[in-house]
Amino acid sequence: MWTDMKEKLLALLQADCPWRGSLHWYARIDSTNDRAKELAEAGAPHGTVVLAGQQDAGRGRMGRHFHSPAGQGIYLSAILRPQCPAKELLHLTCAVAVAMCDAVEEAAGFRPGIKWINDLVFQKKKLGGILTELSIDPQTGLVTYAVVGIGLNCGQSADAFPEELREIASSLRIAAGRPIPTETVAASMIRALARMDETLLSQRDAMLCRYRADCVTLGQEVVLLRAGDRQYGKALDIDGTGNLLVEFPDGVRAVGSGEVSVRGMYGYL
Ligand code: BTN
Repeated sequence: MWTDMKEKLLALLQADCPWRGSLHWYARIDSTNDRAKELAEAGAPHGTVVLAGQQDAGRGRMGRHFHSPAGQGIYLSAILRPQCPAKELLHLTCAVAVAMCDAVEEAAGFRPGIKWINDLVFQKKKLGGILTELSIDPQTGLVTYAVVGIGLNCGQSADAFPEELREIASSLRIAAGRPIPTETVAASMIRALARMDETLLSQRDAMLCRYRADCVTLGQEVVLLRAGDRQYGKALDIDGTGNLLVEFPDGVRAVGSGEVSVRGMYGYL
């Protein structure tokens, strides 16, 4: 099923898709983000895409493991080389999340929500997530490269998830009520990333408006988990860099994604 993935993808992507030219496909790998970082260090160009059929050490935010079984999901990382200071790229994960909602809508016919900051969700269950990693020149503060990694559960039926994920994970197949070919989804993801890239620095505010519309965290009671500490508040808004504005008993504060994990008060969301 996965052996001719690259050929299928190239057939689906139009010749004018600017990210068609540098696709790396692996049947099995530790982590596509790790491979993309190696390629970036070796000079791989902007728009390089790494895809795998299985990951043995898939990583999520805050050091978490990302379950990446063979043939069931899409594990994709892309290299970006935006010419800008790192502080102008704080909205990157948000931009990728909106692009991935577009991709799922195009490929599977429904639009997921976004659980701040990086989870794609449907009916209160997680469909996938995004891991953004930046390399910054310490002298200039400029980004040397960014790797955006996206994992999407695609072909799983409900009972295919391990016991510990069954209550909180979903897949495109479950959400759409029909199997969605992985190559169709992967092609939509690559097209959506290339479109996002065209406006990443020039249309940040318009993108954040779209992020707010997709973000299911807003308006919810949330608990912030930080090194054993719990703080309760209400998620009000997203600021201009993708921080979550939370109303605490003592006032409103911006919460950065590196700082904390946010949970809804009732279950995964
Ligand atoms: C999260 O859930 O916190 C983010 C998950 C990101 C997983 C993807 S799969 C492709 C890429 N390679 C990795 O090791 N991680 C990302």
